[in-house]
This record gives sequence, C-alpha cells and structure tokens, in this order.
Amino acid sequence: MQIFLEKGLARGKEFDLFVYPVLHKQSLTKFVDSSIVFYADQEGFEGAVGEWLCVPVLNGALTKKILLLGIGEKRLLEEDSYRKLGGQLAKRIRESKAKNVAVSLDAIVSPGVSGRDMIRAFVEGLRLGNYVFHAYHAEHREKHSKNAAKSVCIFAESSSLITAMQKGLEEAESLVAGVCLARDLVNTPSMDMGPQQMADAANEVARLSKRIKIMHIDMVEMERLGMGAALSVARGSLYEPKGVHLIYTPKGKSKRKIIIVGKAVTFDSGGLSLKPADGMTTMKIDMAGGAAVVGLFRALAKIDVDVEVHGIFLAVENMPSGSAYRPGDVVKAMDGTTIEILNTDAEGRVTLADALAYAKTLQPDIIIDIATLTGACVAALGEEIAGAMGTDRKLIEKLIAYGRQTGEPIWELPMFPAYEEHVKSRIANLKNTGARGQAGAIAGAMFLKRFAGAIPWVHLDIAGPAYAEREVRSDTPQGGTGFGVRLLIRYLQGL
Ligand code: BES
Ligand code: MN
Ligand code: ZN
Repeated sequence: MQIFLEKGLARGKEFDLFVYPVLHKQSLTKFVDSSIVFYADQEGFEGAVGEWLCVPVLNGALTKKILLLGIGEKRLLEEDSYRKLGGQLAKRIRESKAKNVAVSLDAIVSPGVSGRDMIRAFVEGLRLGNYVFHAYHAEHREKHSKNAAKSVCIFAESSSLITAMQKGLEEAESLVAGVCLARDLVNTPSMDMGPQQMADAANEVARLSKRIKIMHIDMVEMERLGMGAALSVARGSLYEPKGVHLIYTPKGKSKRKIIIVGKAVTFDSGGLSLKPADGMTTMKIDMAGGAAVVGLFRALAKIDVDVEVHGIFLAVENMPSGSAYRPGDVVKAMDGTTIEILNTDAEGRVTLADALAYAKTLQPDIIIDIATLTGACVAALGEEIAGAMGTDRKLIEKLIAYGRQTGEPIWELPMFPAYEEHVKSRIANLKNTGARGQAGAIAGAMFLKRFAGAIPWVHLDIAGPAYAEREVRSDTPQGGTGFGVRLLIRYLQGL
C-alpha cells in the first residue's frame, strides 16, 4: 500500500473510496453533497470517536463510496486521536476492499497538534492497524494481500500543511518499519527466534546505516567479562547465549550518551522452577525488550537524532535441564554482585544484571531498560500500561508524557525505600525474588537498581503491553505490539 500526500482537493480523480474524517457534530455541508448530509442525518451519524458511515454513490460520479469517519470532539483531540483514527480507517478500508482511497484531512486539524505530528500519527495508525503476522499462514497471507488497498492519497488544502506533512509521512514510515520489525520478532515462535536469530536480526538492522555499528558478545566473551549471572540462565538451554551491542553515532558532535537495555529471553519456561502450562503458552514474547531495541535501531537507520545511542541485549533461553541453574545457586554478575537464585523463573533480572553492569562500564548519561519482567506488573497495571520505576524522577515524568503522545501508556510505581529489603539475601548481595505475594514489580526494579549504580536509570516493565491477547486498540492487532519503539525514538528526538 502506497501512501501519498497531495495538495488541494481530489476533484476529477478516480477513487473507490473517499474518506472524510469529521469532528463530533460537525456540519458536513462543506464536504459532501446535500443528499449525503441528509442520509447521515437520517442515520443519526454524529461523528463520535470511531463512529462511521459508508455511503455508496450511484449516480455516475467518479467516487464509488464515501466514508464518514468520526474522530470525536475537537477540544479532546490530541496526537494519539489521529493514530487511533488511522487504525480505524485501516479496518474500514479492508472491509470495503477499496483499491484506491482518498482521505481529506482538512476538517479535523486541531490547533493543539502540529501538521507533522498529525500526519505522522495518522499514517502510523493506518499502517500499524494493517499489520498481520502471516509468516506461517499462507491463506491469511493471500487473503490479506487480496483485500489490501493499492494506494491511499491524503489531501490537504494549505501548502504549509503539505510541507509539514511530508516530514511527518517520512518519519511515520521509518517508525512503522521499526515497530513492525519488533512485532515480527516477538510473534516468531521461539524455535525460529532463539538467541542466534535475535543477533542476526540486529545484524541486518546495522547493515542499513553507516551510523550504526554492531558488536557481538559471544559466550566466550561473556565468560571473559565475568557475566556469570546471564550465563547461568543460559546454561539450561541447548542454545548458546548471544549478546548484542548496537551503537548509533549522530552526525554532529554528540551531546549525550544514552543506553537502552532490553530483556531478551527468547523462551521463558521458568527453568527448573517450571511454569505451569498455561503460564508458558505466550512466553516466546519474553524477548520483547530486546525486540524493542532492534526495532528502535531499525527506526534510527532512517531517523536522525543528536545523541549517541547504545542498544544492548543479552539473548538467552530459560530452560530446565541437567545443566540448568538451580534454586539455591549463588551466581556472580560482571560487577561482582552475588545473587542468590531462589526462583529460576525470575530470570529476567538475572540476565539484566549483567546487561546493566556492562552498560554501566560505558559510563553513559542515562540508562533505560525495557523488559517483560513481572506478572506482578500486569496484575497492578493491566495489559495496556507499562510500569516505570527508577532513580531519575524527571526522566520518568518525561517518558510518561512522551508515552501519552505516542500512544504507549506508562504509569509510575514507587521505589519505596523500605522495599529494598525485599531483595536482600542472607548469603549474597541480592536474592532474585521479592517478598511473597507483594509488590513483585517493585522488587524487580529494586533488584535492577544496584546494577545501574550511580547512573540515572529508568526501568520500564512491559510484561503487560508487549503483547496483546486480543486487539486492544485499532492500531494494535492481536500479538506482539512493538511497545517502546515509538516512545524511545520520541525521547531521543527530544534530547
Ligand atoms: N517473563 C516473566 C514475566 C511475564 C509474565 C511476562 C507474564 C509477560 C507476561 C518473568 O520472567 C517471570 O516469570 N517473572 C516471575 C517472577 C517471580 C518468579 C519472582 C513472575 O512474574 O511471576
Ligand atoms: Mn520467568
Ligand atoms: Zn521472563
């Protein structure tokens, strides 16, 4: 599907479907014929969020269908409204089987959202709403390509809007490439997305830009570095662990050095502390943090930012076997911290211990980690909201604000000082579980905190929003969501 921008009205061109997104209770007389205004009125169409009305045009006109699509009240419009609208349109287009679509955006501009933000969000929604994972399903693949539109032409009147929009369109395409790559990696079964394939995916991304370099941290190197924690998690698997360190260098002199660390457990069986069958069915998604890092760099291959960015993950598989790490074992991370393993299913923090310790040695200005860390975070915030905890208040607030813009909701959980006790061990520096039955997401963060040391750090627990059990938003179909890619780019752009 091609997406174009055009200045001026679409008169005299041929389209199967002409789309008018409209505000709540907006007068339609400016856009469509009186007969359609009359029909919309009769049908009680008001233009509420998500409301739509499709009208065939039979009297020899060029347009074959007109679609009215509500975006709701003008005073409530924000950037994310346009993303959701784009997602809704994707669905309507598929249903209508239209091949050539025109959309006129002039009616729904908002004083609070720039042309660039508006078009970017709209195009993101349109593309992300159309995403399907059909690598293993030929029939779906065929059906999808049969129903897909050939082109969507976006019209606007003013030329200043057009230039602002061009930039937004290009940015959206790069962001979408990053998000869809992250979704593909998450959706791919663990048998085809082990540590090696994660490293391969990062390699492919690094090839796209001369600004991106990649270093691989293989098992021998991990041993040399003393990554005893991550290595212990990997020991139960037939697959060797694979570490990846991506580096983006900006054009000009870099202002700051930012590190993004992702949890990349390519399958989480729980290890010897084996998960029950139901808890294991979706655990191919436990590398979503690493996937977000790869997706972020896919976007960075096309979007310039002014800071040095490092993306790090240690890809491992958590399996039970004769060589697996055991409850009761004490393992040592790269920075010398000793960890008593009380539950092999709390493996994410054990691998992140070494990833963060490694990040710390690079002396960055900021570390952000992104991880499907705890079921407790899903219990606290549900499937749509990520938890944020850390040592940098301002950064947490910034990420929450950016997440609201990009449609990736984040809520803060407290680093209540007394709860640091929950991860203290009697025989080692830390234990890898918290207090029984309470504040599990916070315990995870308390554990990680030690490894970031004095570097300002924020932990994003994406156990909920990394994966959608069912479609939760019009731009987020069932499956891997690519959560974090848009957020992190937005953050880096703001530096
Ligand atoms: N990968 C899981 C967390 C998870 C749960 C992600 C549900 C996505 C959906 C993590 O490794 C885990 O098993 N955490 C345990 C920690 C506990 C043993 C301290 C949990 O949350 O139960
Ligand atoms: Mn686990
Ligand atoms: Zn896990």
